[in-house]
Amino acid sequence: RKKIIIDTDPGIDDAMAIFVALKSPEVDVIGLTTIYGNVYTTLATRNALHLLEVAGRTDIPVAEGTHKTILNGTKLRVADFVHGKDGLGNQNFPPPNGKPIEQSAPEFIVEQAKLHPGEITVVALGAMTNIALAVQLDPEFSKNVGQIVLLGGSFAVNGNVNPASEANIFGDPEAADIVFTCGADIIAVGLNVTHQVVMTADDMDELASSNGKLAQYLCKILGLYYSYHLDAYEIKGVYLHDPTTIIAAFLPSLFTYTEGVVRVQTDGITRGLTLLYNNQKRFEEETEWSDKPSVKVAVTVDAPAVLKLIMDR
Ligand code: BDR
Ligand code: CA
Repeated sequence: RKKIIIDTDPGIDDAMAIFVALKSPEVDVIGLTTIYGNVYTTLATRNALHLLEVAGRTDIPVAEGTHKTILNGTKLRVADFVHGKDGLGNQNFPPPNGKPIEQSAPEFIVEQAKLHPGEITVVALGAMTNIALAVQLDPEFSKNVGQIVLLGGSFAVNGNVNPASEANIFGDPEAADIVFTCGADIIAVGLNVTHQVVMTADDMDELASSNGKLAQYLCKILGLYYSYHLDAYEIKGVYLHDPTTIIAAFLPSLFTYTEGVVRVQTDGITRGLTLLYNNQKRFEEETEWSDKPSVKVAVTVDAPAVLKLIMDR
């Protein structure tokens, strides 16, 4: 079983991703680490603890992540209009009983990667700050970590914060650039792929008719996310960003990839844009992409297979 740490900003699709991971025999979730994005970090921690209580998995530690962007002062953006003020569809669940561990998220990530060299997959589902801090904390981290599978970027399709930028990258573009260029084995799953994995209204009815506890829970929180998609994208269904990314962490063969150097734009109107360069021979001049390590970027997905797995689990 693959040991995974999920770095998350729950978040409705994050909740679904966490549940899919907990129900997947291929993976062993060894910890959740929290980050801002859909909500501020404090609420992300509360929601992570709550989701583990709902799933009956309070044995899994939660390490709280940073409250600030890597440049410490860049304005934080949260997406409460997508996920609700509470991050979980405005259901106002009671506060969790559990508490996060003493270690911070970057410390936990660095320590686990050191304890199990080459074996830990970090699945990054929020802003990339904790992972960038892990890179800065330990020069060996990018060698020790087995793989980083991240939901980030949009790769030649429009973003979802603005035409240039996807939310997890926009949350901390400088951190994302550190992660993309850190030299670890990275799979990036972007909106170009996740917009193909849609849970339709019919699928949601099917979920509602299941008597699984987690399926029932998800149906409660999905309402607001559905209304947002109807309004913003005029579709009768929801994009499964984070659950799709979890599947890429343990069944990468359901996707195809291109490889190249990804840099993140950090200024101007395209702040947060991810730009992939996958032809190392084309430019004679030195560029900001030269001599940087390559990552894998998902280009296609077997959407029916991914959706079926998510539904089944
Ligand atoms: C990503 O941003 C967050 O809102 C979602 O949970 C997902 O991780 C999609 O852009
Ligand atoms: Ca997320």
